[in-house]
Amino acid sequence: MIRQIRKIGDLVLRKKAVKVEKISKETQKLVDDMIDTMHHAHGLGLAAPQIGVSQRVAVVEMSEHDEHGQEKSTLYTLINPEIVRKSEEIWEHAEGCLSIPGWRGDVERPLTITVKALDRLGARVRFEATGMLARAIQHELDHLDGVLYIDKLVAPDRVWQVNENEDKETA
Ligand code: NI
Repeated sequence: MIRQIRKIGDLVLRKKAVKVEKISKETQKLVDDMIDTMHHAHGLGLAAPQIGVSQRVAVVEMSEHDEHGQEKSTLYTLINPEIVRKSEEIWEHAEGCLSIPGWRGDVERPLTITVKALDRLGARVRFEATGMLARAIQHELDHLDGVLYIDKLVAPDRVWQVNENEDKETA
């Protein structure tokens, strides 16, 4: 079910989300709704607070081209995610957010991270992510702590507007 995406100014986006104590049917439904909502918005990630649920759940979908040029996308469901390692190497890149439609801004983030989480079935996962995947995961984890990318801009004047057609692939 597609849910309404909360926009900046909504207090739920500024709350620290609580841990999921038990992965229940409701959690599964939440994850399904988050995926539907992310797809509908052409996003590449979504955190539960963005649909008004203050729980530590995020989804990220990244499409990559394999060595044959075929596009394949991988969907990550992250419950109670934690970053256990960050590279010293950082990189600056533009970010957008489904809760701040129509804007982009440059943010510096570690290039590579190691993430620990539970998947949608409650199994423990731990993996290394780099580049855009690492960036999207860090953006979503910030949402779980009530942090928005505009809090982390490289410079306050480094934001710009994009039109509706370009406003895709945000998180
Ligand atoms: Ni966002």
